[in-house]
Amino acid sequence: MEFIKLNKAYAEHVALIELNRPKELNALNLQLMGELRDALQELDKTDEVRVIIVTGNERAFAAGADIKQMADNNAIDMLMIDQFSTWDQIRKTKKPVIAAVSGFALGGGCELAMTCDMIIASETAKFGQPEIKIGVTPGAGGTQRLTKAIGKARAMEMVLTGKFISAEEALSFGLINKVVPVEMYLQEALKLALEIASMSPVAVQLAKESVNRSFETHLDEGLHFERKNFYLTFASEDQTEGMNAFVEKRKANYKGK
Ligand code: HXC
Repeated sequence: MEFIKLNKAYAEHVALIELNRPKELNALNLQLMGELRDALQELDKTDEVRVIIVTGNERAFAAGADIKQMADNNAIDMLMIDQFSTWDQIRKTKKPVIAAVSGFALGGGCELAMTCDMIIASETAKFGQPEIKIGVTPGAGGTQRLTKAIGKARAMEMVLTGKFISAEEALSFGLINKVVPVEMYLQEALKLALEIASMSPVAVQLAKESVNRSFETHLDEGLHFERKNFYLTFASEDQTEGMNAFVEKRKANYKGK
């Protein structure tokens, strides 16, 4: 792995992926995205890992797709490179992924953060879709996820002007979960990760799937899907453990079975 650092045992049941092209503000070239996809797929298959944190560094989560890498491409080059199949695979990660964002989260960087399930940001974080300033549009979900998260008026303004929003604005718009001082953003993401990692991994995976379904379907079909996943949790030992622990007034010890 050249452009990411992977720590499978960052904390108990928590893995950390750091984007690692600091000089280029973690610009997302094709290799980095491939490595990220490979790491997430590996972590999805690693039983000890229950929650994944993706982060950058203090200055940048990621300043977007690598402009230098794609500047000379034509439309057919872009079609053949088919970078979004990698993004689709990333999106299919089953375990919860938390983005710990400081500094720039722009273009593909903002889209990557939004592809994650939750976002913890430092006070210095800046979110934006500045593609319009370089003559293109968002391409990795920016127009869709941003609009769903913050509404049409705000998304339209960000996408059409390319202006950045601060972490506080992102919080008040409902784009992110929490803003903390810069020295604490990774710690705060870990705190959230550990809390989720203490739950039944079976229930967590099914719950993530059910929440995500709400973006893809109408209410009736979404409720049906949710109900099936709810029933499925009753096939797990964790359901018995969780309910018995409640009745016996003790802490549940989940095994992911
Ligand atoms: C390639 C990038 C880059 C990017 C920064 N760099 N962003 N290289 N692609 N997206 C490089 C710079 O060229 C520079 O390299 C180094 O990182 C430091 O950046 P500076 O510009 O010197 O830093 P600063 O003045 O602090 O400005 C920071 C910045 C600016 C505001 C974030 O770099 C910027 O505007 N970057 C581009 C943001 C953007 O347009 N993103 C959307 C990309 S399109 P050198 O070698 O000169 O030191 C996109 C489409 C997504 O994301 C859809 C498909 C996935």
